[in-house]
Amino acid sequence: MLKVLAIVGSPRKGKNNDTLVEHMLKGIADYKEVSASIEKLYANKMQIASCTACEGCGRKKGCVIKDDMNSLYTKFDEADIVIISSPLYFCSVSSQLKAIIDRNQAIWSSKYILNDSLINKEKSRLGYFICTAGMPDEPHLFDATLPVMELFFKSINTSHEGNLFVPNVDQQPIMEDEKMLQEAYALGAKLIEKAATL
Ligand SMILES: Cc1cc2nc3c(=O)[nH]c(=O)nc-3n(C[C@H](O)[C@H](O)[C@H](O)COP(=O)(O)O)c2cc1C
Repeated sequence: MLKVLAIVGSPRKGKNNDTLVEHMLKGIADYKEVSASIEKLYANKMQIASCTACEGCGRKKGCVIKDDMNSLYTKFDEADIVIISSPLYFCSVSSQLKAIIDRNQAIWSSKYILNDSLINKEKSRLGYFICTAGMPDEPHLFDATLPVMELFFKSINTSHEGNLFVPNVDQQPIMEDEKMLQEAYALGAKLIEKAATL
């Protein structure tokens, strides 16, 4: 049984990000050759404080802040597929998602300061990033999200398999874009097919 973890980084349930994630997860669930346990979480519904740079994670494994992030460390570790989505906010990811990303500093410290990793570095995991933008497409629209997400996936020792970037959703909502929904569905199927071979 493969474990799939998806995090919706938009605070708007049922809108563009949520719908794309849902279709990707349906592509995974419908893939008959492999069974998967699927968990979808909403960043905005979790209690996740901002990193305070207290440096506690450099002294003792884990984060001193006791909130929902502690269970996320375990979920990242156990997942075979990690799907992250975000609306583009001021050319970057949402603050709800960024809080999660920054709290992965505890994973970074466990590896590079304490030499006692919070995450199993040998395990194979596949990651995918979904991002929607309100503006019509233009060159480099999503570029600023790329180094952020590269580093995030690196922190959880997950292969960043690709990105689904969808512009112009304020004019053309995803919920009415059947072609894009099918693309997300197909991407989900492709992802689990690959995960099953690892
Ligand atoms: C705070 C905020 C900042 C935004 N910044 C941008 C931006 O820099 N570029 C852009 O194209 N759209 C921007 N938007 C529009 C959102 O990206 C768009 O509405 C979103 O992708 C919709 O996703 P959702 O329906 O899943 O919430 C912004 C929206 C908000 C609320």
